[in-house]
Amino acid sequence: TYVVTENCIKCKYTDCVEVCPVDCFYEGENFLVIHPDECIDCGVCEPECPAEAIKPDTEPGLEKWLAINADFAVKWPNITQKRDALADAKEWDGKPGKESLLSP
Ligand code: SF4
Ligand code: F3S
Repeated sequence: TYVVTENCIKCKYTDCVEVCPVDCFYEGENFLVIHPDECIDCGVCEPECPAEAIKPDTEPGLEKWLAINADFAVKWPNITQKRDALADAKEWDGKPGKESLLSP
């Protein structure tokens, strides 16, 4: 599966959702997740994210983010259409330490 990681937080560009062939993105207030059981590993969303927040779970060190994606995917509503990015997305893009700002 692919996973959405920290740099999506407070950016939420949403370019990713429109390309997913199985519509497996779920939306929180300031973050998106991929449902790990629905993702078919096609990889087309990865280059679409301006924040480079989408990664294959085969990359090392992503266990925590995989768990976060799995957790929220069953709590948040599905999203399939692009929205405006969050207002200050550009300022937050690339900032470290955003994990604690994730709105559940
Ligand atoms: Fe959707 Fe493919 Fe991205 Fe998985 S890898 S979330 S199936 S676009
Ligand atoms: Fe987030 Fe990137 Fe999608 S910032 S909403 S994973 S395009």
